[in-house]
Amino acid sequence: MKYIRVTEAANIPLREGRRVNLGGVDIAIFNLGERFVAIENRCPHGGGPLADGIISNVGGATTVTCPMHNWRICIDSGNVAKPSDQRACVRTFAATVEEGIVVVAIDEERAAA
Ligand code: FES
Repeated sequence: MKYIRVTEAANIPLREGRRVNLGGVDIAIFNLGERFVAIENRCPHGGGPLADGIISNVGGATTVTCPMHNWRICIDSGNVAKPSDQRACVRTFAATVEEGIVVVAIDEERAAA
């Protein structure tokens, strides 16, 4: 696993997402206030940009609503929360803040790409 320093945490407004490409993978990083999360920036329905989606809470899970057709993705598990009959999911990545910098963990192979 490789840990990549991405940006200052202050560059991502509260409850918003920002897109970044790491090792050829489009990733959406979200600022939830008490923590940051990172998921693949590609909706499993039709490839919509999840970084542009709205963060909300559904049934105790934090989700992002895709701006294309309103599918909701759980940003912790990557699973589709709505519609509930979908089994698709997106990849999730560990994200932390170190000394004010958002750090995302990605596979070594991807980091070298
Ligand atoms: S592309 Fe995301 S809901 Fe259709």
